[in-house]
Amino acid sequence: MYTSRISGLGSYVPENVVTNDDLAKLMDTNDEWIQERTGIKERRHIKKGDGNTTSTMGVKAATIAIERAGLQTSDIEMIIFATLSPDMYFPGGGVQIQDLMGMDTVPALDVRNQCSGFVYALSVADQFVRTGMYKHVLVIGSENHSGGLDFTTRGRNVSVIFGDGAGAAVVSRNETGKGGILSTHLHSEGKHKDELALQGPSTGYWVPEILEKNPQEDIPYYPYMNGQFVFKHAVVRFAEVIMEGLNANGLSPSDIGMLIPHQANLRISQFIQKKLRLSDDQVYNNIQRYGNTTAASIPIALTEAWEKGKIKEGDLVVLAAFGSGFTWGSAMIRW
Ligand code: ACO
Repeated sequence: MYTSRISGLGSYVPENVVTNDDLAKLMDTNDEWIQERTGIKERRHIKKGDGNTTSTMGVKAATIAIERAGLQTSDIEMIIFATLSPDMYFPGGGVQIQDLMGMDTVPALDVRNQCSGFVYALSVADQFVRTGMYKHVLVIGSENHSGGLDFTTRGRNVSVIFGDGAGAAVVSRNETGKGGILSTHLHSEGKHKDELALQGPSTGYWVPEILEKNPQEDIPYYPYMNGQFVFKHAVVRFAEVIMEGLNANGLSPSDIGMLIPHQANLRISQFIQKKLRLSDDQVYNNIQRYGNTTAASIPIALTEAWEKGKIKEGDLVVLAAFGSGFTWGSAMIRW
């Protein structure tokens, strides 16, 4: 049995910055409400004609990650692509990465676990490397939220939160003899599937049915979120799954070098930090600048923290996510 490690990281966000004041021109909201409730000051949105899509942003992040791993695209033996906003209903985004990056006919797997997508994808990559099946697996989280949000007052509780971007990691066989991915911990609770969901178009809510909808009613092709309900579950599950990972490795919160929580809401991150008694230096947040980029949020934050020198060799890095499904998970990594 082998172990795996993250050998390269990369991220990409569109250039177009959208501030809270910009959104206040489109809907009844304001900078104070958004900052106070979420911590978000601005986010990035794809601009029509800038060439960005979920898959092309994924390629940009992946290209950086592969280069930093000291590898060539041809070294990648599998693609795992996490997104809730693929360019097409089917096929998934993984095959587009394979095509756009000119890769050999390597397997491409899509993961649809929303905000926990990256942690789930990392776990899958870890298993493939541990068994010895592959040496280098490319994991990508990428989202184009701005194309599918309701920017009227009706959708304001959701549309102010989300942003676009991509992050990527190369998961490689650990030949350093030190550290690597120690363990991953995944969970789901589908009975809450309707509390944060985009219902259609789907086979349960097909296009003709949507077209018959009265525009005054809730529109199923925009995301619905029961914010307070999600918030209450998030703070419990985040702390639980971080402790599960620490306990599995005989570690405690004081051992954490850097916690990268999924960037759902700054208040959620602060709540977890307080609950686990972590210092400001032990938690990395960048939701202030990017909003919630769902499957991309952890790899973007992880890349940034690493680029800023906040993650050093030997540090215990903890990734934790919670989101729609509900699904949640954590990853314990010795850097
Ligand atoms: N601007 C101004 N007012 C607003 C806005 C807005 N953008 N959005 C909602 N409001 C209003 C509401 O209408 C409500 O008004 P009322 O009291 O007159 O009815 C009031 O503000 C309070 O609304 P709440 O929804 O109770 O506000 P809350 O403090 O819960 O904040 C938020 C909302 C930010 C969505 C929060 O609940 C949250 O972050 N929830 C968790 C999100 C999360 O973790 N998601 C998981 C990951 S996402 C994924 O998996 C895809």
